[in-house]
Amino acid sequence: MPATPGAEPPSDCALCSRLAAFRAANRAAEPDWFNGAVPSFGDPQARLLIVGLAPGLRGANRTGRPFTGDYAGDLLYDTLATYGFSSGSYDRAPDDGLRLTGCMVTNAVRCVPPENKPVGAEIAACRPFLAARIAALPELREIVTLGKIAHDSTVRALGGRLKDHPFGHGARTELAGLAIMSSYHCSRYNTNTGRLTPEMFAGIFAAVREALDRAS
Ligand code: URA
Repeated sequence: MPATPGAEPPSDCALCSRLAAFRAANRAAEPDWFNGAVPSFGDPQARLLIVGLAPGLRGANRTGRPFTGDYAGDLLYDTLATYGFSSGSYDRAPDDGLRLTGCMVTNAVRCVPPENKPVGAEIAACRPFLAARIAALPELREIVTLGKIAHDSTVRALGGRLKDHPFGHGARTELAGLAIMSSYHCSRYNTNTGRLTPEMFAGIFAAVREALDRAS
């Protein structure tokens, strides 16, 4: 790995052998899918960064855009539109014309993991890209982390200690000059089980919108 990695890994990143092998198997089974390290999506002048877990197999791994093509994206992009972070409409495809405004979406782990579960070494191997992604956003003020893995990796990427910045839905903390707000992940599992309701999710973005408007 280079001493200072860029904000985006190469599509065929080889840092994690298990993830590279899974990508290769998916490419053999579904040659028309993206099947690569999924790049971040959004506005280079973002004031808000959303950090997800990892590409979904039939979502971002298929389409090549974070949260695009699965249920989690329906809720995320709908909520971003409600709070003025996008223009155009989300239609589950990278060519749907959706644009994020003042906002960027990325993942703590850029390659699809088996069973949606990256292991600790994979999360750590991908963290320099997350750190570089954050560092490359000159206007960044707020980060929303979706789920504990994304939250913990973001705190570590910023040099923080987890015990000083614990995950909790709606918990807000400050680190390295940035505000971090954690949320339960907007997965279908979490919404089906009632752990996260669309109203709870909206509450996170309402708070972030208000903070950004207050700061500007
Ligand atoms: N799609 C993504 O890109 N990230 C997630 O965390 C879930 C679905």
